[in-house]
Amino acid sequence: MAKVIRIRRHGGPAVMELVDVELPSPAPDEVRVRHTAIGVNFSDVNVRRGGFYPNYNPSFPLGIGNEAAGIVEGVGAEVVDFKAGDRVAYAGMRSQFYQDTGAYAEARNVPADRLVAVPPGVSDQQAAALLLKGCTASLIITDVYKPERDDIILIHTGAAGVGSILVQWSKHLGATVIGTVGSIQKVEIAKRFGCDHVILYREVDFVTEVKRIAPNGLTAVFDGVGKDTFLASLPLLRQLGRAVNYGNASGNVPPFNVMLLASKSLSVTRVGVTGHIQDTTSFRRVANRVFDLVQNGTITVNIDRTYPLAEASTAHADLEEGRFSGSVLLLP
Ligand SMILES: NC(=O)c1ccc[n+]([C@@H]2O[C@H](COP(=O)([O-])OP(=O)(O)OC[C@H]3O[C@@H](n4cnc5c(N)ncnc54)[C@H](OP(=O)(O)O)[C@@H]3O)[C@@H](O)[C@H]2O)c1
Repeated sequence: MAKVIRIRRHGGPAVMELVDVELPSPAPDEVRVRHTAIGVNFSDVNVRRGGFYPNYNPSFPLGIGNEAAGIVEGVGAEVVDFKAGDRVAYAGMRSQFYQDTGAYAEARNVPADRLVAVPPGVSDQQAAALLLKGCTASLIITDVYKPERDDIILIHTGAAGVGSILVQWSKHLGATVIGTVGSIQKVEIAKRFGCDHVILYREVDFVTEVKRIAPNGLTAVFDGVGKDTFLASLPLLRQLGRAVNYGNASGNVPPFNVMLLASKSLSVTRVGVTGHIQDTTSFRRVANRVFDLVQNGTITVNIDRTYPLAEASTAHADLEEGRFSGSVLLLP
């Protein structure tokens, strides 16, 4: 038996229920993982609310969650990569992040090819707090736009989960970083992550402030807020600047005319981490790159708060208020 969070319909945080389920033995290609830390992500909120992902009709009851770390309890007959007692983590299954969810659980059977070994020097909590967000930051920085010395980058929500990793990594690469944050409490936190300038974007007009700080324009903007920030950020870019949207915390980026990009030959990328880590080799390569960044001190994992698994609905309600800096975990 294992306690798991399930929803029987879409809705607010209260639709999440803690229930007991019978766990079958692992299939030949599966590993039974006893979770020690579970990552809470905004995509979990989107799944719980429903209506976010086009053409998605899940069948209920539905598990929630895409990311966890834990200890291997048993393995299926064909599994050779892992054995009981190994420390492992995962971020997503073989499908989209709104499918095969169910990490909010004490234990779970996971296909062995979705697991990565957690190295010494990285704790279970760090792994669960970092993997999904770190893989997203890696997609942006390693594959879409690598900040360089002399770059001036705008990173929205510089104290948030993905944003704080982007800030630390961009600083490590030598860029000047302007971060936005939604509350006064996050200003110092964003500075500690490495922001050279911090803008309280709900209180002051960030466009005016960025123009003052970077009169020659930005080389790139990294944006996980979406509706409230993305289009307003485009004119802040310099010639050949790159705008990267990775999230929709405030809502989807509205449709826009590509002619907006023409005068400065701008590029726009909307990243999705699922495709980036879908095959096992890519997933483990990216995950290990992220673990290396922790081990060599480039990234500090900020775990803002932990909640018991049974309090997942409180964790969601708090997350939806944008209260946190860094990551949030559920502990079974
Ligand atoms: N493309 C991908 O593959 C991918 C992967 C990971 C995450 N994401 C997406 O990226 C976004 C950020 O992820 P994250 O892990 O960094 O999230 P997070 O740690 O929960 O941070 C989200 C931040 O967005 C800001 N925000 C602005 N409007 C908000 C609103 N209406 N409600 C709540 N927060 C709001 C808040 O920061 P301030 O207080 O500073 O405003 C909040 O702390 C999410 O939309 C997530 O789904 C996408």
